[in-house]
Amino acid sequence: MKPVQIRPDVFWVGVNDRVTELFEGLWPISQEGISYNSYLIRDEKSALIDLSKEMLSDDYLAMLAEVFDISTLDYIIINHMEPDHSGALLRLKALAPDAVIMGMPKTVIMLKDFYGITENVERLSNGQELSLGENTLRFVYTPFVHWPETMMTYMVEQKVLFPCDGFGGYGTLDGAIFDDTCTDLDYYEVEALRYFTNIVAAFSKHVLGAINKFAEMPIEMVAPSHGLIWRENPGRILELYQTWSDYYHNPAQVGVTALLGTMYRNTEHALSAALEGIASEGVPVKVHDVRKTHISYILPDLWTQRGVLVAAPTYEGGMFPAMMDALMMADRKRVTHKTAAYMGSYAWSGGAQAEFERMAEKMDWTVLNAMGFLGGPAPTDLDRAREIGVQLARAVKENS
Ligand code: FEO
Repeated sequence: MKPVQIRPDVFWVGVNDRVTELFEGLWPISQEGISYNSYLIRDEKSALIDLSKEMLSDDYLAMLAEVFDISTLDYIIINHMEPDHSGALLRLKALAPDAVIMGMPKTVIMLKDFYGITENVERLSNGQELSLGENTLRFVYTPFVHWPETMMTYMVEQKVLFPCDGFGGYGTLDGAIFDDTCTDLDYYEVEALRYFTNIVAAFSKHVLGAINKFAEMPIEMVAPSHGLIWRENPGRILELYQTWSDYYHNPAQVGVTALLGTMYRNTEHALSAALEGIASEGVPVKVHDVRKTHISYILPDLWTQRGVLVAAPTYEGGMFPAMMDALMMADRKRVTHKTAAYMGSYAWSGGAQAEFERMAEKMDWTVLNAMGFLGGPAPTDLDRAREIGVQLARAVKENS
């Protein structure tokens, strides 16, 4: 893509990553891709806010050169040191040796640790401002959105927020870079939620803290370093992130996420009965088969729905492995405050139920019911599973 002027003096110089299959080596993006958005400000002084992944630095630097003589760059603003945004730094620095690299104190340490850079570096403090001429940049420390060094940059006169990972999402920018020019905003909102739950949700408390810091600063544009630029309705992505972040300490939406793992379909039959019970109460339910679906695509439902039904058998005296993996990632991503139930088959001794209860306690889930059964579910087991579904659905509604 070509550079795009997004405001007077401000250019988007982003690149699309259609190569990486697992973002952070963990999260599937082979279908969706991701963008690394960088922003150039051409004023009396020039500044570049966040860069690109090293792998795409050829594309990135060529794009930048279309609108700017790189050798004259004055400032490199590092909102966040993770290499998806800083990977092009060494090559950029070679082309712009006089540019001053700016970041929070922990960024300065990471610049040395990641790239051996110690010179031409300026340590910023929270709230510090930098005049570029007509435009002023204000640097606001927002730790853990997404790393401890992270800050967001606010363009004072033009009321533009550059939040890096904050308010970002998966998905390449396919010709259109704005919320009002893309043709499928719903897709980008779905991918923003998946990105949020995969990358940022564990730091929800800090996201809310960051949003608070900008409460008194008018924002007319949100220009993150992944995903769409929110020009027409910047409040939309701020509200979405606020709502999602609130779920870390408040109950989420009325609905149940059912996680299924099964070896010979005995547990699946019990789950089917439980789903009938949930449906009879009119509560939305989404089933994910943990054997087939990557946790990346399950986390959005786990995060946003207040009920969880875990259906998985015992395997070698413990939880069915694919389910254990899912629960461990849910714990890692701080999926807390859920109302939950368990059911699963076992052949001689149980074990899955105990592991479920241990994980549920760790995540502060309220367990309403847990039911193990030998072999295939008897009619009485199916009746009980149906009743568990009813009780779970009612509890989810009662807590709303
Ligand atoms: Fe997009 Fe935390 O890096």
